[in-house]
Amino acid sequence: MSEKRAPLIGFLVVFIVLGILWIWYPFGTPGRDHIPLTTIYPLTENARETQGIYALVYWITLAVFLGVEGLLVYALFRFRRRGDETAPPEQTHGHTTLEVGWTLATVLLVLVMYVPSCQAIRFHQGKPPSANPLIIDVTGRQWFWEFYYPEFDLTTANEIVVPQGRTVLFNVTSTDVIHSLWFPAMGGKRDAVPGRTQPLWFTPTELGNYHGQCTEYCGSSHALMQMDITVRPQAEFDAWIAGQKAPADPASMAGFGMFAASGCIACHMTMQNDKTVLHMNGPNLMKVASRKRIAAGILENTPENLKLWIHDPQHVKPDAKMNVPAMQCTGPGQPDPCCRDVQIGNCLAPETVDQLVSYLEMLK
Ligand code: CUA
Repeated sequence: MSEKRAPLIGFLVVFIVLGILWIWYPFGTPGRDHIPLTTIYPLTENARETQGIYALVYWITLAVFLGVEGLLVYALFRFRRRGDETAPPEQTHGHTTLEVGWTLATVLLVLVMYVPSCQAIRFHQGKPPSANPLIIDVTGRQWFWEFYYPEFDLTTANEIVVPQGRTVLFNVTSTDVIHSLWFPAMGGKRDAVPGRTQPLWFTPTELGNYHGQCTEYCGSSHALMQMDITVRPQAEFDAWIAGQKAPADPASMAGFGMFAASGCIACHMTMQNDKTVLHMNGPNLMKVASRKRIAAGILENTPENLKLWIHDPQHVKPDAKMNVPAMQCTGPGQPDPCCRDVQIGNCLAPETVDQLVSYLEMLK
Protein backbone atom coordinates (compact mmCIF):
# COMPACT_ATOMS: atom_id res chain seq x y z
CA MET A 1 0.00 0.00 0.00
CA SER A 2 1.44 3.36 -0.97
CA GLU A 3 1.94 5.96 1.73
CA LYS A 4 -0.44 8.30 -0.08
CA ARG A 5 -3.29 5.80 -0.01
CA ALA A 6 -3.00 4.67 3.62
CA PRO A 7 -4.97 7.60 5.13
CA LEU A 8 -7.64 7.24 2.48
CA ILE A 9 -8.13 3.54 3.13
CA GLY A 10 -8.16 4.21 6.89
CA PHE A 11 -10.86 6.81 6.37
CA LEU A 12 -12.94 4.40 4.30
CA VAL A 13 -12.70 1.68 6.96
CA VAL A 14 -13.87 4.11 9.66
CA PHE A 15 -16.68 5.27 7.38
CA ILE A 16 -17.92 1.76 6.71
CA VAL A 17 -17.69 0.67 10.37
CA LEU A 18 -19.58 3.77 11.51
CA GLY A 19 -22.21 3.18 8.86
CA ILE A 20 -22.72 -0.45 9.91
CA LEU A 21 -22.95 0.56 13.59
CA TRP A 22 -25.46 3.26 12.75
CA ILE A 23 -27.75 0.87 10.95
CA TRP A 24 -27.19 -2.02 13.38
CA TYR A 25 -27.82 -0.11 16.60
CA PRO A 26 -31.54 0.65 16.36
CA PHE A 27 -32.56 -2.34 14.29
CA GLY A 28 -30.17 -5.08 15.30
CA THR A 29 -30.25 -4.81 19.08
CA PRO A 30 -31.29 -7.94 20.91
CA GLY A 31 -34.75 -7.06 22.16
CA ARG A 32 -36.49 -5.31 24.99
CA ASP A 33 -35.84 -8.03 27.55
CA HIS A 34 -32.12 -7.39 27.34
CA ILE A 35 -32.35 -3.60 27.43
CA PRO A 36 -35.31 -2.82 29.73
CA LEU A 37 -34.79 0.93 29.56
CA THR A 38 -34.95 1.27 25.79
CA THR A 39 -37.61 3.34 24.06
CA ILE A 40 -37.30 1.60 20.72
CA TYR A 41 -39.87 -1.11 21.47
CA PRO A 42 -42.88 1.14 22.09
CA LEU A 43 -45.97 -0.49 23.59
CA THR A 44 -48.48 2.34 23.83
CA GLU A 45 -49.76 4.94 21.41
CA ASN A 46 -47.79 7.56 23.36
CA ALA A 47 -44.56 5.61 23.07
CA ARG A 48 -45.17 4.94 19.37
CA GLU A 49 -45.70 8.66 18.81
CA THR A 50 -42.28 9.40 20.29
CA GLN A 51 -40.67 6.47 18.48
CA GLY A 52 -42.10 7.77 15.19
CA ILE A 53 -40.20 11.03 15.63
CA TYR A 54 -37.09 9.14 16.65
CA ALA A 55 -37.33 7.07 13.45
CA LEU A 56 -37.96 10.18 11.32
CA VAL A 57 -34.90 11.92 12.77
CA TYR A 58 -32.91 8.74 12.36
CA TRP A 59 -33.68 8.39 8.63
CA ILE A 60 -33.10 12.10 7.97
CA THR A 61 -29.75 12.11 9.73
CA LEU A 62 -28.79 8.86 7.98
CA ALA A 63 -29.58 10.46 4.61
CA VAL A 64 -27.59 13.58 5.52
CA PHE A 65 -24.70 11.44 6.74
CA LEU A 66 -24.62 9.35 3.58
CA GLY A 67 -25.00 12.43 1.35
CA VAL A 68 -22.27 14.47 3.01
CA GLU A 69 -19.83 11.60 3.45
CA GLY A 70 -20.58 10.33 -0.07
CA LEU A 71 -19.71 13.72 -1.54
CA LEU A 72 -16.60 13.84 0.59
CA VAL A 73 -15.44 10.40 -0.57
CA TYR A 74 -16.25 11.34 -4.17
CA ALA A 75 -14.19 14.52 -3.86
CA LEU A 76 -11.30 12.65 -2.29
CA PHE A 77 -11.08 10.31 -5.26
CA ARG A 78 -12.14 12.65 -8.05
CA PHE A 79 -9.84 15.51 -7.12
CA ARG A 80 -6.89 13.65 -5.62
CA ARG A 81 -3.41 14.58 -6.79
CA ARG A 82 -2.44 12.63 -9.87
CA GLY A 83 1.00 11.78 -11.23
CA ASP A 84 3.47 14.58 -10.78
CA GLU A 85 1.01 17.45 -10.32
CA THR A 86 2.59 20.10 -8.16
CA ALA A 87 0.50 23.23 -8.69
CA PRO A 88 -2.37 23.79 -6.22
CA PRO A 89 -5.87 23.35 -7.68
CA GLU A 90 -7.87 26.36 -8.79
CA GLN A 91 -9.03 28.30 -5.71
CA THR A 92 -12.60 29.62 -5.40
CA HIS A 93 -14.24 31.81 -2.81
CA GLY A 94 -17.97 32.12 -2.25
CA HIS A 95 -20.77 30.49 -4.22
CA THR A 96 -24.11 32.24 -3.65
CA THR A 97 -26.31 29.50 -5.11
CA LEU A 98 -24.64 26.80 -3.04
CA GLU A 99 -24.76 28.82 0.18
CA VAL A 100 -28.42 29.74 -0.22
CA GLY A 101 -29.15 26.13 -1.18
CA TRP A 102 -27.62 24.45 1.84
CA THR A 103 -29.07 27.05 4.19
CA LEU A 104 -32.59 26.48 2.83
CA ALA A 105 -32.15 22.71 2.79
CA THR A 106 -31.11 22.77 6.45
CA VAL A 107 -34.07 24.95 7.44
CA LEU A 108 -36.39 22.62 5.56
CA LEU A 109 -34.99 19.54 7.29
CA VAL A 110 -35.36 21.16 10.71
CA LEU A 111 -38.98 22.05 9.87
CA VAL A 112 -39.69 18.47 8.84
CA MET A 113 -38.60 17.39 12.33
CA TYR A 114 -40.08 20.37 14.17
CA VAL A 115 -43.70 20.09 13.03
CA PRO A 116 -44.30 16.45 14.08
CA SER A 117 -42.43 17.14 17.32
CA CYS A 118 -44.89 19.93 18.14
CA GLN A 119 -47.81 17.65 17.26
CA ALA A 120 -46.44 14.94 19.57
CA ILE A 121 -45.99 17.41 22.42
CA ARG A 122 -49.61 18.52 21.99
CA PHE A 123 -50.71 14.90 22.04
CA HIS A 124 -48.76 14.06 25.21
CA GLN A 125 -49.73 17.26 27.01
CA GLY A 126 -53.36 16.98 26.02
CA LYS A 127 -56.20 15.46 27.95
CA PRO A 128 -56.23 11.65 28.26
CA PRO A 129 -58.63 10.01 25.80
CA SER A 130 -60.67 8.33 28.53
CA ALA A 131 -63.34 9.98 30.67
CA ASN A 132 -62.64 7.49 33.43
CA PRO A 133 -58.89 6.91 33.66
CA LEU A 134 -57.29 4.97 36.48
CA ILE A 135 -55.73 7.72 38.55
CA ILE A 136 -52.47 7.08 40.37
CA ASP A 137 -50.95 9.83 42.50
CA VAL A 138 -47.17 9.56 42.30
CA THR A 139 -44.74 11.11 44.74
CA GLY A 140 -41.02 10.98 44.08
CA ARG A 141 -38.95 10.63 47.24
CA GLN A 142 -35.26 10.23 47.96
CA TRP A 143 -35.05 7.37 46.88
CA PHE A 144 -38.25 5.53 46.19
CA TRP A 145 -41.62 6.06 44.51
CA GLU A 146 -44.83 6.34 46.46
CA PHE A 147 -47.97 5.39 44.52
CA TYR A 148 -51.50 6.08 45.71
CA TYR A 149 -54.67 4.79 44.01
CA PRO A 150 -57.47 7.17 45.12
CA GLU A 151 -60.12 4.90 43.60
CA PHE A 152 -59.12 2.11 45.97
CA ASP A 153 -57.62 4.22 48.77
CA LEU A 154 -54.42 2.22 48.38
CA THR A 155 -50.86 3.34 49.06
CA THR A 156 -47.98 1.28 47.77
CA ALA A 157 -44.39 1.79 46.71
CA ASN A 158 -42.14 1.19 43.72
CA GLU A 159 -44.34 -1.41 42.02
CA ILE A 160 -47.71 -0.81 40.46
CA VAL A 161 -50.22 -3.02 38.74
CA VAL A 162 -52.64 -1.61 36.17
CA PRO A 163 -55.44 -3.20 34.15
CA GLN A 164 -55.00 -3.87 30.45
CA GLY A 165 -56.70 -1.40 28.16
CA ARG A 166 -57.64 1.27 30.70
CA THR A 167 -55.96 4.65 30.44
CA VAL A 168 -53.76 5.42 33.43
CA LEU A 169 -53.41 9.02 34.54
CA PHE A 170 -50.50 9.76 36.85
CA ASN A 171 -50.50 12.91 38.94
CA VAL A 172 -46.82 13.39 39.55
CA THR A 173 -45.23 15.40 42.35
CA SER A 174 -42.36 15.27 44.83
CA THR A 175 -41.82 16.09 48.49
CA ASP A 176 -38.09 16.76 48.39
CA VAL A 177 -36.12 17.37 45.17
CA ILE A 178 -36.97 17.03 41.49
CA HIS A 179 -37.34 13.47 40.23
CA SER A 180 -38.76 12.26 36.94
CA LEU A 181 -41.19 9.43 36.26
CA TRP A 182 -40.33 7.29 33.24
CA PHE A 183 -41.54 3.92 32.01
CA PRO A 184 -39.70 3.73 28.66
CA ALA A 185 -41.95 1.14 27.01
CA MET A 186 -45.03 3.18 27.94
CA GLY A 187 -43.69 6.48 26.65
CA GLY A 188 -43.20 9.93 28.05
CA LYS A 189 -41.48 11.32 31.10
CA ARG A 190 -42.86 13.68 33.67
CA ASP A 191 -40.79 15.60 36.19
CA ALA A 192 -41.81 15.23 39.82
CA VAL A 193 -41.44 18.77 41.12
CA PRO A 194 -42.06 19.76 44.75
CA GLY A 195 -45.10 22.01 45.06
CA ARG A 196 -46.47 21.12 41.61
CA THR A 197 -48.60 18.27 40.34
CA GLN A 198 -48.15 17.36 36.69
CA PRO A 199 -50.04 14.79 34.63
CA LEU A 200 -48.71 11.91 32.57
CA TRP A 201 -50.99 9.40 30.88
CA PHE A 202 -50.93 6.39 28.60
CA THR A 203 -53.11 3.40 27.85
CA PRO A 204 -51.26 0.11 28.40
CA THR A 205 -52.49 -2.58 26.01
CA GLU A 206 -49.76 -5.23 26.19
CA LEU A 207 -49.73 -7.58 29.17
CA GLY A 208 -46.41 -7.86 30.94
CA ASN A 209 -44.02 -6.33 33.38
CA TYR A 210 -42.09 -3.22 32.42
CA HIS A 211 -39.25 -1.41 34.08
CA GLY A 212 -39.02 2.26 35.02
CA GLN A 213 -36.33 4.55 36.29
CA CYS A 214 -36.09 7.98 37.88
CA THR A 215 -34.66 10.07 35.08
CA GLU A 216 -33.79 13.34 36.76
CA TYR A 217 -30.64 13.47 38.84
CA CYS A 218 -31.86 13.62 42.44
CA GLY A 219 -28.86 12.85 44.62
CA SER A 220 -26.40 10.09 45.36
CA SER A 221 -28.83 7.20 44.87
CA HIS A 222 -30.62 8.59 41.82
CA ALA A 223 -29.62 5.59 39.72
CA LEU A 224 -31.03 3.29 42.43
CA MET A 225 -34.52 4.79 42.23
CA GLN A 226 -36.34 2.32 40.04
CA MET A 227 -39.87 1.05 39.65
CA ASP A 228 -42.01 -1.49 37.86
CA ILE A 229 -45.36 -1.41 36.14
CA THR A 230 -47.25 -4.65 35.53
CA VAL A 231 -50.14 -4.77 33.07
CA ARG A 232 -52.68 -7.49 33.88
CA PRO A 233 -56.14 -8.48 32.66
CA GLN A 234 -58.93 -6.72 34.54
CA ALA A 235 -59.80 -9.78 36.66
CA GLU A 236 -56.19 -10.22 37.79
CA PHE A 237 -55.93 -6.52 38.52
CA ASP A 238 -59.07 -6.72 40.66
CA ALA A 239 -57.59 -9.69 42.52
CA TRP A 240 -54.38 -7.76 43.10
CA ILE A 241 -56.28 -4.80 44.53
CA ALA A 242 -58.27 -7.13 46.80
CA GLY A 243 -55.04 -8.74 47.98
CA GLN A 244 -53.42 -5.38 48.70
CA LYS A 245 -56.48 -4.24 50.67
CA ALA A 246 -56.86 -7.48 52.62
CA PRO A 247 -55.99 -7.23 56.32
CA ALA A 248 -52.71 -8.67 57.50
CA ASP A 249 -52.41 -12.37 58.32
CA PRO A 250 -53.16 -12.62 62.08
CA ALA A 251 -50.17 -14.94 62.42
CA SER A 252 -47.93 -12.02 61.48
CA MET A 253 -49.07 -9.95 64.44
CA ALA A 254 -46.52 -11.57 66.71
CA GLY A 255 -43.73 -9.96 64.72
CA PHE A 256 -45.21 -6.50 64.86
CA GLY A 257 -43.92 -5.93 68.40
CA MET A 258 -40.32 -6.35 67.29
CA PHE A 259 -40.95 -4.17 64.23
CA ALA A 260 -42.28 -1.39 66.47
CA ALA A 261 -39.67 -1.80 69.19
CA SER A 262 -36.84 -1.66 66.66
CA GLY A 263 -37.86 1.78 65.49
CA CYS A 264 -38.90 0.72 61.98
CA ILE A 265 -42.39 1.98 62.64
CA ALA A 266 -41.17 5.56 62.75
CA CYS A 267 -40.97 5.53 58.94
CA HIS A 268 -42.81 2.43 57.70
CA MET A 269 -46.39 1.31 58.21
CA THR A 270 -47.27 -2.38 58.06
CA MET A 271 -50.82 -2.38 59.43
CA GLN A 272 -52.57 -0.17 56.90
CA ASN A 273 -52.09 1.18 53.41
CA ASP A 274 -54.86 3.73 53.09
CA LYS A 275 -54.54 7.48 52.65
CA THR A 276 -53.54 8.06 56.26
CA VAL A 277 -50.09 6.58 55.60
CA LEU A 278 -49.27 8.85 52.67
CA HIS A 279 -45.93 10.65 52.83
CA MET A 280 -44.49 8.77 55.76
CA ASN A 281 -40.70 8.86 55.67
CA GLY A 282 -40.32 5.42 54.16
CA PRO A 283 -42.24 3.18 51.75
CA ASN A 284 -45.43 1.54 52.93
CA LEU A 285 -44.68 -2.08 53.82
CA MET A 286 -48.14 -3.51 54.46
CA LYS A 287 -47.83 -5.95 51.54
CA VAL A 288 -44.08 -5.81 51.06
CA ALA A 289 -43.79 -9.58 50.64
CA SER A 290 -45.99 -9.37 47.54
CA ARG A 291 -43.42 -7.20 45.76
CA LYS A 292 -40.85 -8.63 43.40
CA ARG A 293 -38.06 -6.38 44.50
CA ILE A 294 -37.07 -4.27 47.49
CA ALA A 295 -35.16 -1.02 48.01
CA ALA A 296 -36.81 0.63 44.97
CA GLY A 297 -36.11 -2.04 42.41
CA ILE A 298 -32.52 -2.79 43.35
CA LEU A 299 -32.68 -6.19 45.08
CA GLU A 300 -34.76 -9.28 44.43
CA ASN A 301 -37.22 -9.70 47.28
CA THR A 302 -35.60 -12.66 49.04
CA PRO A 303 -35.01 -13.26 52.78
CA GLU A 304 -31.24 -12.98 52.20
CA ASN A 305 -31.60 -9.63 50.48
CA LEU A 306 -34.02 -8.31 53.08
CA LYS A 307 -31.48 -9.22 55.70
CA LEU A 308 -28.69 -7.55 53.76
CA TRP A 309 -30.82 -4.43 53.34
CA ILE A 310 -31.90 -4.14 56.98
CA HIS A 311 -28.40 -4.90 58.19
CA ASP A 312 -26.64 -2.31 56.07
CA PRO A 313 -28.89 -0.12 53.92
CA GLN A 314 -26.11 2.37 53.28
CA HIS A 315 -24.06 -0.32 51.61
CA VAL A 316 -26.91 -1.15 49.24
CA LYS A 317 -28.10 2.38 48.67
CA PRO A 318 -25.70 5.20 49.56
CA ASP A 319 -27.27 7.94 51.66
CA ALA A 320 -30.57 6.07 52.01
CA LYS A 321 -32.54 7.81 54.74
CA MET A 322 -32.86 4.64 56.73
CA ASN A 323 -31.60 5.37 60.23
CA VAL A 324 -32.82 5.63 63.81
CA PRO A 325 -32.33 8.21 66.55
CA ALA A 326 -28.93 7.84 68.16
CA MET A 327 -30.57 7.25 71.53
CA GLN A 328 -31.58 3.80 70.32
CA CYS A 329 -27.98 2.92 69.81
CA THR A 330 -26.82 3.29 73.38
CA GLY A 331 -28.37 0.20 74.94
CA PRO A 332 -26.20 -2.37 76.66
CA GLY A 333 -25.03 -5.25 74.53
CA GLN A 334 -25.39 -3.34 71.27
CA PRO A 335 -22.76 -4.11 68.70
CA ASP A 336 -20.03 -1.54 68.73
CA PRO A 337 -20.48 0.04 65.24
CA CYS A 338 -23.91 1.36 66.15
CA CYS A 339 -22.59 4.16 68.31
CA ARG A 340 -20.34 5.32 65.55
CA ASP A 341 -22.96 4.97 62.86
CA VAL A 342 -26.65 5.33 63.58
CA GLN A 343 -27.78 3.29 60.59
CA ILE A 344 -30.54 1.06 61.76
CA GLY A 345 -29.03 -2.30 60.84
CA ASN A 346 -25.94 -1.64 62.91
CA CYS A 347 -28.09 -1.03 65.97
CA LEU A 348 -29.90 -4.32 65.74
CA ALA A 349 -28.66 -7.63 67.02
CA PRO A 350 -28.41 -10.30 64.29
CA GLU A 351 -31.28 -12.30 65.80
CA THR A 352 -33.43 -9.17 65.78
CA VAL A 353 -32.72 -8.70 62.08
CA ASP A 354 -33.72 -12.33 61.50
CA GLN A 355 -36.99 -11.78 63.34
CA LEU A 356 -37.72 -8.64 61.32
CA VAL A 357 -37.06 -10.51 58.07
CA SER A 358 -39.42 -13.32 59.15
CA TYR A 359 -42.07 -10.74 59.99
CA LEU A 360 -41.75 -8.86 56.68
CA GLU A 361 -41.84 -12.13 54.76
CA MET A 362 -45.34 -12.72 56.18
CA LEU A 363 -46.71 -9.44 54.84
CA LYS A 364 -48.15 -10.87 51.66
CU1 CUA B 1 -35.19 10.45 41.85
CU2 CUA B 1 -33.45 10.65 40.27
